[in-house]
Amino acid sequence: MPILLAIESSCDETAVAILRGQRGEMTEILTSEVASQIELHREYGGVVPELASRNHALAIRPLLDAALNHAGISLAEVDAFAATTGPGLASSLMIGASAAKGLACATGKPFLAINHMEGHLLSPFLSQTEVPPHLALIISGGHTLLIDVQGAGRYRLVGTTRDDAVGEAFDKVAKMLGLPYPGGPELEKIAKLGNPHAFDFPRSMLHAPHADFSFSGLKTAVLYTIQGLGDHAEVVKNRQTVADIAASFQQAVSEILVGKCRKNLGAHHTIALSGGVSCNQTLRDAFERAFAPRHVRIAIAPPALCTDNAAMIAFAALLRFLNGESSPLTTEILPNWQLV
Ligand code: KG4
Ligand code: ZN
Repeated sequence: MPILLAIESSCDETAVAILRGQRGEMTEILTSEVASQIELHREYGGVVPELASRNHALAIRPLLDAALNHAGISLAEVDAFAATTGPGLASSLMIGASAAKGLACATGKPFLAINHMEGHLLSPFLSQTEVPPHLALIISGGHTLLIDVQGAGRYRLVGTTRDDAVGEAFDKVAKMLGLPYPGGPELEKIAKLGNPHAFDFPRSMLHAPHADFSFSGLKTAVLYTIQGLGDHAEVVKNRQTVADIAASFQQAVSEILVGKCRKNLGAHHTIALSGGVSCNQTLRDAFERAFAPRHVRIAIAPPALCTDNAAMIAFAALLRFLNGESSPLTTEILPNWQLV
């Protein structure tokens, strides 16, 4: 059975995974290593590209050794090497792509250049090699994409955000509420203590005739609400107020995402959620509640495969490798690579 090694370094996580799979068989993750840089970037309140690339360069070699060790295989047993070559931060992408190309060159094995968003899109189906026709909603820190999927590699863009990505909105609202970076998971945590109907935030573009999203109005509405409640430092000290705003924001986001999927489901029987925001349990529950009565399956990867990881990149590469595809070693990184 083919074995693939993939590297992901598009943003602030350095990741290496080794995957074994064959058409019609269960895919096996031999290892999925992630070296997170969250602590490094926390004091800046966001990702600093120069710091990220320097740390990818430091982390990649030990992470490769650890991955081979944990998987119990040698480099010679790997059938192909893959890396994320876009979209992402140029100086970060370059580290992972160069490492994977170097390994392919040294071992004489094929190289595969993989789109980070395709990794996310396919992640809910990682345990199998079949990707059913479905509606895919990718909700990450940089992207919000609604895609009609006919099968692996057959994608049609249905809708996208006209301003902020969902994860970006989570992070910005969390910052306004005085929550630590990265904000999404912190906002979810405190929202559990809040009333989701305490504030009526706008469900922007929910009833628009197109399938695009907008989250900047919602974000601004949260800002005005906080400002209207008085002195900022005092408002965010009140845990109940923060929890109520967080829960109400999350409720608005859930309704928008569920509503857009309902309107654009077409003939599909499966909706796949992927990207960091799909870790959010309130959102997962909202989709289950909305679509279970309609017998629509909600496919979501386990949380560790929703945020950035290399197993999803290895899986996207495996499907292409099994189709006989590979990329030339001259393939350049594409920081703005559009999947669709
Ligand atoms: O897919 P991802 O790991 O990286 C990108 O490709 O962007 O997504 C990161 C985003 C961040 O905005 C983060 O705050 C958000 O996913 N996120 C969450 C949760 N976990 C991660 N947002 C809401 N609830 C969560 N539990
Ligand atoms: Zn991502």
